[in-house]
Amino acid sequence: MTVGIDQINFYVPRFYVDMAKLAEARQVDPNKYLLGIGQTEMAVSPTSQDIVSMGANAAKDIVTDDDKKQISMVIVATESAIDSAKASAVQIHNLLGIQPFARCIEMKEACYAATPAIQLAKDYLAQRPNEKVLVIASDTARYGLQSGGEPTQGAGAVAMMISHNPRILELNDDAVAFTEDVYDFWRPSGQPYPLVDGALSKDAYIHSFQESWQEYARRHNKSLADFSSLCFHVPFTKMGKKALESILTDDIDEETKSRLTTGYDAATYYNRYVGNIYTGSLYLSLISLLETHDLVPNDTIGLFSYGSGSVGEFFSGKVVEGYQDALDIQAHKDLLNNREEISVETYETFFKRFDNLEFDPETELQNEQNSIFYLESINDHIRNYNTLN
Ligand code: COA
Repeated sequence: MTVGIDQINFYVPRFYVDMAKLAEARQVDPNKYLLGIGQTEMAVSPTSQDIVSMGANAAKDIVTDDDKKQISMVIVATESAIDSAKASAVQIHNLLGIQPFARCIEMKEACYAATPAIQLAKDYLAQRPNEKVLVIASDTARYGLQSGGEPTQGAGAVAMMISHNPRILELNDDAVAFTEDVYDFWRPSGQPYPLVDGALSKDAYIHSFQESWQEYARRHNKSLADFSSLCFHVPFTKMGKKALESILTDDIDEETKSRLTTGYDAATYYNRYVGNIYTGSLYLSLISLLETHDLVPNDTIGLFSYGSGSVGEFFSGKVVEGYQDALDIQAHKDLLNNREEISVETYETFFKRFDNLEFDPETELQNEQNSIFYLESINDHIRNYNTLN
């Protein structure tokens, strides 16, 4: 019996800002953003795309009519919740038309929460061979205009169908989590943006990775040679690279070093053009690896998940034969390539409108495309969603 990722898909809003132009506007050397941080473009949300609509958009293309009958749990991982009580999974469950006898919950631990959601789904399904769990990671990563974290913003969602006999990645029984109480990034209730100690967050990430990896290797008697590729949580592409390089020590053979470095580049290709999507970043990286790199069946992929605060987790999965057939690579390329570049000035306008929840139906409609869920209005704090047909 195997459980794992049977389907995986992502959604990003259709606007982006060019990082070189953002750097110029902020009077920063563009190479700091392009090379130092490692980001080329950054996804920008219009007011009409929140965690619910993005999550539903990521999921709608992988949820079939049969799935709607079989899904018995929907978990949304997010750190940009729109409600402190009602789980966004309930709204997504409704938008997708999933059968009513299902559990719907939201999970939180900064960028880490989709990983325990997947592990929970895996354990839950062990006794339920005919059921499926839909896990969605959805976030708008926002630090504020002209803030230190501004070049590491982004927006988007990843949806994953967890089931028996998965078509993409079998999950191994090997996860090792590492928890450490650290204030590297946090968002007290009511604060619009997180508080972040940037330098500490980079150190805490690397420390969490090293602890998780070393304990994983010790418990399971594994070395880097056992992995075809590694995927990391990618707040910006340079971050995971730093973590990877920290364990590519002199005693590691050159072939392994080269394989993991090449794999890392493939695993961060999409992230470089989207920016940080918090909970979905690791899984966008996995999609990027699966779609832009040559993998063979039974290859083992190692995954490192990190959420500030902090919890890290290292786990692995095995690539399933024919996995390419379960991916819509062209649709993902089209989604990224058909986006519209907006100027820094327009990005700032979008940013303020999003913060103030400014709705102008005509503007919202112009920002959306056919068959896409979008936030249409908020009345008495109740969010209403619609699709264009
Ligand atoms: N050309 C090339 N590289 C340049 C450069 C230039 N002109 N100017 C600076 N850099 C490099 C720096 O050397 C540094 O690289 P290094 O980390 O390898 O030394 C990198 O660009 C970033 O510079 P830094 O001075 O650290 O930038 P910063 O103080 O603006 O902070 C972040 C960057 C990422 C910490 C900040 O954007 C942030 O706080 N983001 C949110 C938190 C986050 O994402 N944390 C990650 C862990 S979850």
